[in-house]
Amino acid sequence: MSAPNKSYDPVEVEALKPEAIDRARDEALAAIAAADSLDALREVKVAHSGDRSPLALANREIGALPPHAKADAGKRVGAARGAVGKALGQRQEELEAERDERVLVEEAVDVTLPHDRQPAGARHPLTTLMERIEDVFVAMGYEVAEGTEAETEWFNFDALNIGPDHPARTTQDTFFVAGASPQADGAKNAGKDAAEESGVVLRTHTSPVQARALLSRELPVYVICPGRVFRTDELDATHTPVFHQVELIAIDEGLTMADLKGTLDHMVRELFGADMSTRLRPSYFPFTEPSAEMDMVCYVCRGASVGDPQRPCRTCSSEGWIELGGCGMVNPRVLRACGVDPDQYSGFAFGFGIERMLMFRHNVEDMRDMVEGDVRFTRPFGTEI
Ligand code: DAH
Repeated sequence: MSAPNKSYDPVEVEALKPEAIDRARDEALAAIAAADSLDALREVKVAHSGDRSPLALANREIGALPPHAKADAGKRVGAARGAVGKALGQRQEELEAERDERVLVEEAVDVTLPHDRQPAGARHPLTTLMERIEDVFVAMGYEVAEGTEAETEWFNFDALNIGPDHPARTTQDTFFVAGASPQADGAKNAGKDAAEESGVVLRTHTSPVQARALLSRELPVYVICPGRVFRTDELDATHTPVFHQVELIAIDEGLTMADLKGTLDHMVRELFGADMSTRLRPSYFPFTEPSAEMDMVCYVCRGASVGDPQRPCRTCSSEGWIELGGCGMVNPRVLRACGVDPDQYSGFAFGFGIERMLMFRHNVEDMRDMVEGDVRFTRPFGTEI
């Protein structure tokens, strides 16, 4: 602000000259008209009507004018500021209206657009079948265990009475996990693969859970374990290197093979229908003694094809039975390896493949369909629970 000014005419103050005021007003109006957004208008407002704008500065000069000049200068500056303020208000309204219109268009919801571009998947039938099997046994008081997929050779083989020379221990069936081992160097010198010496394999069956269950629980033990197992097979219509098994072990006082048979019959009735039953055929497994293969009545012909050439059954080759898995009374050597007294406790175990059972239950003909993850395969199974 200039010093008190009593003697000279207001036109002599540069900022208050009519041309200067008109110019400041016109520049402000032009800038307001050119502001194309609310942000731009905010900046224009600061520049042309803020405290440091030319018109505000001119307004301050008025106070220093001689009294007779104040009214005239005040009128001119006031009119210019009024015009700028009005233009700002109008432009603000216009820009807000534009913005509201744009938001309405941009954020409009088109209710005719398709809403299901990401269709829901479907649970894999292997998962639902495993859960269904679990339910059958949980209802009988069994506990569900998991075990581990990378397993020590001791649990996978030794604890189950599968000696070092058993064919299942050769690299033909087993994935060995590479890793450091105290004997690895010596083994290499002896021409062996370090992986074979790590002592860790991908479990080739769920049976190691038998030993794990016995070592980690108080007796009696009633455990079921569904899970993934691994063998060095090529993927084809009837093999896959990664598949699923269900293992069961029951150890208590006084359990006999009759309990095993009754449990198997109950399971197939729950899973395949009330008219189902099983039969046992003598077999050999190192970890059960005696051991048996378990068959169930053919789910297709229900045994009707046997001896009837008019009604051959492709599924069971007209034998009336389908092989399901292995079973038996847990070998006392397994019990002893797990610290259980075979004179006091006995029990049974069985194991079978889930893929095979899914093939029976749902007429799946090619195992590759189960691993490819194509929803066209899984969807027809729906959300069976
Ligand atoms: N572990 C066996 C396999 O993978 C299946 C099996 C046989 C499990 C007999 C058992 C059993 O529990 O008693 O071929």
